[in-house]
Amino acid sequence: MRADAQAQPNIALIKYWGKRDIEQNLPAAGSLSVTLDSLWTKMSVEFSDALPGDELVVNAAANDEMLPRISACLDRVAGTDRPRALINSEGNFPIAAGLASSASAFAALVVAASKAAEQNSDTLSLARIAGSISGSSARSLFGGFVELQTNDTNIDVETIAEAGVWPLTVVIAVTAEGAKPVSSGEAMIRSAASSPFYSSWLEQQPADLVSARDAVLRTDFAQLAAVSEHNCLKMHSVMWASRPPIVYWNSATLSCMEAVRHLQDEGHAVFFTIDAGPQLKAICLPDEADLVRSALDACAGVVRTMVSGLGAGARLLDSK
Ligand code: PMV
Repeated sequence: MRADAQAQPNIALIKYWGKRDIEQNLPAAGSLSVTLDSLWTKMSVEFSDALPGDELVVNAAANDEMLPRISACLDRVAGTDRPRALINSEGNFPIAAGLASSASAFAALVVAASKAAEQNSDTLSLARIAGSISGSSARSLFGGFVELQTNDTNIDVETIAEAGVWPLTVVIAVTAEGAKPVSSGEAMIRSAASSPFYSSWLEQQPADLVSARDAVLRTDFAQLAAVSEHNCLKMHSVMWASRPPIVYWNSATLSCMEAVRHLQDEGHAVFFTIDAGPQLKAICLPDEADLVRSALDACAGVVRTMVSGLGAGARLLDSK
């Protein structure tokens, strides 16, 4: 009745921003991401009738704040008549700060819970459950370059190129470690309700996805860089024009952006993306990673940098 799983966060290059169905948490448009390898979340799930209720421990401390979403996810995997569960989560990077910790957490959770409940669910079914709680987590079930498509009833997710096919490096500049001021879910709903740019953002998503997919399949760095940066800045423009505005950046985010621009002007293969938080993620060819990291380390306000290659999707671990 106990199982352990690991998943890594993913970084969207073509972003998910907006829901077509809030109740089912269905994204309004498709997205495309890369799954990382060196940042991870490990989850253990143990079902037991002896527990008074579900219990969640995150990095060795009891956590009641995230428990309702975790319990709802377990209900979807194992049914509402399941035994109570002890869930233990450990990660090696900050949570709720725009580093996609919920993506790796829910991806690892569904894999561990399904095994602990002695089910034989396939990866897509588990991705759909994870995605119904945290939209981006559906992509962390898969490795490498991952595309998510959506329609009015469900999502489809698949790896379009394995990590080894195009081993890009992601350098993350952490510019603030606290939790974000507005959750991405709440911010998306606000954008849809009030941003004058929301409808054109959605209209352009299919074309951006075609361009990014084509760039990945042809390993065309310049094309992937151009469409990814444009897509990221469009998403943040939607947020900035929302009422009240949603601004996740700080001054260090802008300094990092400027540093990436400077490297690009010198001819280096690097581009940036930013999610619902102030961290900047620079994507580059592996032989540029040291240079990109030192440039970001030198930016005022950068707390630390982390480097990751691309990795595999969520998977079971041997239980200790
Ligand atoms: O899945 P959520 O609710 O954490 O939202 C993710 C939103 C972005 O990270 C900004 C974009 C994305 O596609 O991951």
